[in-house]
Amino acid sequence: MEHLNLSANYFGGIVPPVVAGLPALRSLILDTNQFTGAYPAAEISKLARLEELTLASNLFVPAEFAKLTKLSFLWMSDVNMTGEIPKAYSRLVNLQVIAITKNNLSGEIPAWVWRHPKLEKLYLFSCGLTGELPRKMTAVNLIELDVSSNQLTGEIPEDIGDLKNLSMLFMYTNQLAGTIPASIAMLPNLRDIRLFENKLSGELPAELGKHSPLGNLEVCNNNLSGPLPESLCTNGALYGLVVFNNNFSGQLPKS
Ligand SMILES: *[C@@H]1O[C@H](CO)[C@@H](O)[C@H](O)[C@H]1NC(C)=O
Ligand SMILES: *[C@@H]1O[C@H](CO)[C@@H](O)[C@H](O)[C@H]1NC(C)=O
Ligand SMILES: *[C@@H]1O[C@H](CO)[C@@H](O)[C@H](O)[C@H]1NC(C)=O
Ligand SMILES: *[C@@H]1O[C@H](CO)[C@@H](O)[C@H](O)[C@H]1NC(C)=O
Ligand SMILES: *[C@@H]1O[C@H](CO)[C@@H](O)[C@H](O)[C@H]1NC(C)=O
Ligand SMILES: *[C@@H]1O[C@H](CO)[C@@H](O)[C@H](O)[C@H]1NC(C)=O
Repeated sequence: MEHLNLSANYFGGIVPPVVAGLPALRSLILDTNQFTGAYPAAEISKLARLEELTLASNLFVPAEFAKLTKLSFLWMSDVNMTGEIPKAYSRLVNLQVIAITKNNLSGEIPAWVWRHPKLEKLYLFSCGLTGELPRKMTAVNLIELDVSSNQLTGEIPEDIGDLKNLSMLFMYTNQLAGTIPASIAMLPNLRDIRLFENKLSGELPAELGKHSPLGNLEVCNNNLSGPLPESLCTNGALYGLVVFNNNFSGQLPKS
């Protein structure tokens, strides 16, 4: 057995420890069921070939999977996970997708997350996370980044401009302050920016929309000022512009 997908049913009870007897398993998809108890973390950790593991939307008490070094896809949303994001996950160097959302966590987003070389999608929304974003971000393969609906403070780092593949930047409903870094306007693939409900101030980057096919910009409920950049509307991609309740002024872009 290489693939076992039980997703989206009403299976209950415990996940039997005999899953450890499926050493060829590459995907174990258990999300969206009613499994309870402590899932057999030790046994699952023996599945050395596992690449995809989804546990989201169950009643599990989660544990750690630090031995699953082949894991590329980890989905642990809505599993009643508490405490900090386990440090042990930093050893999962092949992760391309981390989705740990809708849990009641505490503490900061750990530094290793921002350095994970293969990471392409990072979803950490609605988890009660605190602290600041790091100055340096070297997870340069990130395409989608969503840390919305937490209690993050501090500023958006200028170095976010190093994430050249970034297409989606969601940091809404936090307490981020300072200005939106100019480097964001230089990201060539950026399509969707949602930074609403923060404490951002200053002007929008002058060339926003000039260097990427920006389709959606949502920055309402901040303290942004100055004009809307002309370049926002010149790339032909814009379909959504939501800027209400700020301190913007001047004339609307002719385009
Ligand atoms: C598992 O099955 C669900 C429901 O058919 C499907 O949406 C999902 O893509 C499958 N996941 C994997 C990894 O095959
Ligand atoms: C969630 O975790 C808490 C504390 O670990 C526990 O008291 C509670 O029963 C759990 N809820 C569910 C639905 O498992
Ligand atoms: C989250 O956990 C804290 C303790 O860590 C607890 O006080 C709080 O009630 C929990 N919130 C929810 C929505 O479970
Ligand atoms: C970005 O995406 C391209 C094309 O998918 C890929 O070749 C490249 O390795 C990615 N990473 C960086 C940092 O450009
Ligand atoms: C809004 O930004 C202006 C500077 O642009 C600053 O003077 C003011 O204190 C800010 N207001 C709030 C409520 O943060
Ligand atoms: C709007 O900007 C003006 C001028 O910079 C500043 O005096 C005022 O406090 C700002 N309004 C808010 C609500 O921050």
